[in-house]
Formats: sequence, structure tokens, C-alpha cells
Amino acid sequence: MAALNTPLIAPSLLAADFSRAAEEVAAVETAGADWLHLDVMDGHFVPNLSMGPQLIKALRPTSKLPFDVHLMIAPVDPYIEAFARAGADHIHLHVEAGPHTHRSLQHVRDHGVKPGVAICPATPPEAVGEVLDLVDMILVMTVNPGFGGQKFLTSQLRKIETLRRMADATGRDIRIGVDGGITAETAPLAVAAGADVLVAGTSVYGQPDYGAAIAALRSGAHSPA
Ligand code: DX5
Ligand code: ZN
Repeated sequence: MAALNTPLIAPSLLAADFSRAAEEVAAVETAGADWLHLDVMDGHFVPNLSMGPQLIKALRPTSKLPFDVHLMIAPVDPYIEAFARAGADHIHLHVEAGPHTHRSLQHVRDHGVKPGVAICPATPPEAVGEVLDLVDMILVMTVNPGFGGQKFLTSQLRKIETLRRMADATGRDIRIGVDGGITAETAPLAVAAGADVLVAGTSVYGQPDYGAAIAALRSGAHSPA
């Protein structure tokens, strides 16, 4: 198992007050966030709608945080350029979103953006085995994507461990993010399994003190599970 490094914290804007989006981004930046996670939903790949490149483009000049864009859309290829132009630093696309994940990840890289592959709870870890040479990150869904505020699926911990081994075996530096139901209680489990990026919506934006919430996720991840 990988050494327990301090995980990066990526608050998900999905749980923020959209009427004050720019202020909410600034607030987590001040509070110590490492990245900003932006959830894009199409009402087709997932049963919900959220935001598009226009909002991301509008927020881009307001923050120095790396923008970690999670595309829950199918098809994905026609929209990669728009999200790259909007200012995405990372683009995660789902291995389940179409038959040509390999080509889609290459498109992301061609646009100068770091590619990540996201994987749903029902999908086995082997599904991403042939694209590990193309990605900088694997985003393991610890809930079924589409909504914030769901319960962490402990069934995914074994998959995180397997993916950590698969990622390390490549000899490349591949981060493993976890997304969904991350709290001060579940973060240590995910980190112990090999995650080093914690995406958190409700457990940051749903709390009164963002700084304390981010610190709790980081330090919880460090205390013995
Ligand atoms: C779910 C999204 C998540 C979501 C996490 O489809 O991908 O990023 O915002 O929300 P919480 O942390 O509330 O589970
Ligand atoms: Zn997400």
C-alpha cells in the first residue's frame, strides 16, 4: 500500500450557493482548498443537470485554484474543447461514457489539459487498465454520480486499493481521487486504501466554517483509521 501522503482537498462547487458562485470559490481558496472540483452533468449520462463551460469560464479569472472538471456527460468528445477553452486544468471523463475512452483522453491531452478517468461504482477496476498510460488521475466514484449528499459506498475501498496497485505498477505518477460521501469519517478509509485527492461537496460547503471543514478532512485523513 502507498505511503499515506497528505491528501489534496478539492471542494465541489455543486454544494455551494450558486447565487454567489464567485464568492464561494474565493471562500474555499482562502480556507485552504488545493483544487476546485466542478461537476458537469447532462441529464442523460446522469439523472441531473448542473453547469456548463460558460459558468466555468466566468469563474476562471476569479481564482488561482486549479479547476478540476468532472464531466458526467455522454458523448464527451464534442465538448472537450469548450471545457479546455473555459479554463479547465484537469478534465475527468467517465470510462462508461462511450466506447472510445482512449481517444477521448488523448483529445484532453491534445488541448493541454491533464486527463483523468472516472469510474462508477458498478465498473470493475480492470476497465481502466488499458488507459493508465494516458491519465494523470483516476477518479473513483464512491457514490453513484448525479447528486451531492449521498452516502459513501465502503464497497469501493477494495477497488481503490486495486487501482492504487495498478497505478503504482505503471511507474508513472498517477493520483487517485475519491468522489462522493467524503467526510472526516470516511476520508481516512479512502486515504488508507490509497487515495490522495479528496473531493468533498457537502462536508465543505455544507459546513459553517470552510477552513475548519477542510482542516478536518485533511487531519482526519492523517489520524489512524
Ligand atoms: C457526484 C459528484 C460529486 C459531488 C460530491 O455526482 O461527482 O463531486 O459533488 O458531493 P458530496 O461530497 O456531497 O457527496
Ligand atoms: Zn464530481
